[in-house]
Amino acid sequence: MGIFKMRRMSGKFFTFIGVTFFIFLMFVYRNIPCGPSSKYLMVPKADKVIYRDQQPIPYHREMPLIFIGGMPRSGTTLMRAMLDAHPEVRCGEETRLIPRVLGMRTNWERSEIEKKRLIEAGITDEVIDSALSAFILEIVALHGEAAPHLCNKDPFTLKSSVYLKKLFPNAKFIFMIRDGRGTVHSIISRKVTITGFNLNDYRQCLTRWSTAMEMMYSQCLQVGADQCMPVYYEQLVLQPELWMRRIIKFLDIPWNSSVLHHEDFIEKPGGISVSKTEKSSDQIIKPVNLEALNKWVGHIPDDVRKDMAKIAPMLRTLGYDPEANPPNYGKPDPKIADNTLHIQQNVEFWKKREEELLKRDQNSHRGPPPVGPHI
Ligand SMILES: *[C@@H]1O[C@H](CO)[C@@H](O)[C@H](O)[C@H]1NC(C)=O
Repeated sequence: MGIFKMRRMSGKFFTFIGVTFFIFLMFVYRNIPCGPSSKYLMVPKADKVIYRDQQPIPYHREMPLIFIGGMPRSGTTLMRAMLDAHPEVRCGEETRLIPRVLGMRTNWERSEIEKKRLIEAGITDEVIDSALSAFILEIVALHGEAAPHLCNKDPFTLKSSVYLKKLFPNAKFIFMIRDGRGTVHSIISRKVTITGFNLNDYRQCLTRWSTAMEMMYSQCLQVGADQCMPVYYEQLVLQPELWMRRIIKFLDIPWNSSVLHHEDFIEKPGGISVSKTEKSSDQIIKPVNLEALNKWVGHIPDDVRKDMAKIAPMLRTLGYDPEANPPNYGKPDPKIADNTLHIQQNVEFWKKREEELLKRDQNSHRGPPPVGPHI
């Protein structure tokens, strides 16, 4: 009897201590972001908003931003164009700044001396995270039209998926995967400059492709299937409806068949803003088609082809047969086969359309995005 009472008493006592300690911890934790223990706390002045039809849309770190990435020339532009066609999604052109600031942070992290200096100056991980997330969020939110679902496409951001998930805990990632032989042939034939890629050397480029893909794939796996979805370019162009339905479901947004007709929304309000400098712009003005699928066949030097499995081990990991030239990617949806035929039979029409779009007056196609007052 006595022992039981003692136990109950001490139970209550420990609960009391536990709760007190928890409150203490919460108090301490709330103060961490503003540096050494201080009776003051830095607080942002107000939530920020972007305006759509005079309706304010708040933007903040907890929103489910969409990040599209992968190796350049792997269908990332097509992916963003298809999502841009959705009335509630806005991606826009590549920002180029977002992967660069992410790369800068990686360099600070890698250098021990730099890291030590930063900590000594009070620039802790929390401070950097707060600053970088604000920078990235402002660029994403303000560089295009306002929309309930904001999205960003800069291929190399997917090298930092794990870190981006830390900054934006509800972010979703779409990782574009394409047969490395197609990607590298496209990089080389279109002269797409990428740091570290020698555009005269298929062997070197395929090696680099494999290393970069290994890293991005591992980041995608670490982020987890709830937040990172790998999408195969070949499958997306062969069966767009099947894949877009899966992608839209993964993103948790309502279905709209506009995403299957992105070519109808080029440079329309609420549609797709096309860059005049990005190398893929001439392709996304066309409907989804199979033109690019087998373009690489016959262009890879024999000695490179013989060593393919060794040069680019990620081909096999991702399910591409390194010995097949080309592998069988699967059967197209009949509508897509029709699109391809139509494009091949109307070469002149598409050439003219491309010229019109890419040579239009720099300032006439779109005013600056309406920016809400930053109270
Ligand atoms: C789909 O989007 C278009 C605009 O792109 C809109 O007119 C239409 O109402 C939307 N349909 C649905 C079912 O939301």
